Amino acid sequence: MKIISILNHKGGVGKTTFTGSVAQALALTGFRVLAIDNDSQHNLCSLLGVGSRSPNICDFYEARPKEASRILLRAVRKTDLHNLHTITSSKELGDSSVKDILYLKKHIEECGFERYYDYILIDNAPGIDSLQACAIHASDEIFVPTELRQFAVDGLVEMEQVIGERHPKAAQITRIIPNFYKDIKRHNTFLAVLHDLFPRRVTSTCIPLDNVFDEVVTEGKILFLHRLYSKGAAFYLKLVEELFALDEDAVWEQVSGKRREHISTQARNRLKKSAGNKDEKQQQ
Ligand SMILES: Nc1ncnc2c1ncn2[C@@H]1O[C@H](COP(=O)(O)OP(=O)(O)O)[C@@H](O)[C@H]1O
Ligand SMILES: [Mg+2]
Repeated sequence: MKIISILNHKGGVGKTTFTGSVAQALALTGFRVLAIDNDSQHNLCSLLGVGSRSPNICDFYEARPKEASRILLRAVRKTDLHNLHTITSSKELGDSSVKDILYLKKHIEECGFERYYDYILIDNAPGIDSLQACAIHASDEIFVPTELRQFAVDGLVEMEQVIGERHPKAAQITRIIPNFYKDIKRHNTFLAVLHDLFPRRVTSTCIPLDNVFDEVVTEGKILFLHRLYSKGAAFYLKLVEELFALDEDAVWEQVSGKRREHISTQARNRLKKSAGNKDEKQQQ
């Protein structure tokens, strides 16, 4: 099992979109995935179509030590995808909820998640405070989605220093993922700067700017089942192949197979429903 924190001190850079999309892509590829929402905005649970209910991550942080593992286990919820589970968050979640920086790590181990999951992805709020510290201490790696702008690039250098100085024993930044990419001079210049600053850590796949991410959230749909042929979905699959060293053809086969299954189940349900309605009318 590998635990990955998705982190950036900035908001609006695509952390939640990344966590949700990568979690769904990995689950559709056959991996067992747990996505933890460690942000009081609880956007990840909305993206995964799961409402914020108790017990959630906030109840876990505030639990008595003896009960914490039991609450963490009870906080795990199913999503619409077979292999994907999530732990939701709530607006009450705050830094003051964290009493011990090793708390999440300790209880993930105690719950035996190792037996149930191949990957745990932890979505974080902007900043590097106690909640994020707790996540990175539980993690093996940190993935950082970023915009291609001056302040964003400068901020990453600072962020790396802060993590190294304040949390030398926690996971460190292993991958940087350029988001909102357009093939224009300004973006390509910042991309080159990023490659210079973080050699071998910037993914060669950049996620393009695409409205599809907002559309699927608004419509409550799953990117790879409902909009597989969008630019956004194609680049996310490419990114997942790169980040997790997966075979391109195998990923495509599995995801498109799941999409076919989903469409045929939906069509069958629609047929059943309309046949049911006809029967009802005939009986009246
Ligand atoms: N590649 C992209 N192209 C267009 N919009 C995107 C892209 N990635 C994310 N978004 C949108 O940008 C907004 C912020 O993304 P989000 O993942 O919530 O960022 P964060 O979690 O870092 O605050 C959301 O509306 C999301 O749908
Ligand atoms: Mg977010």
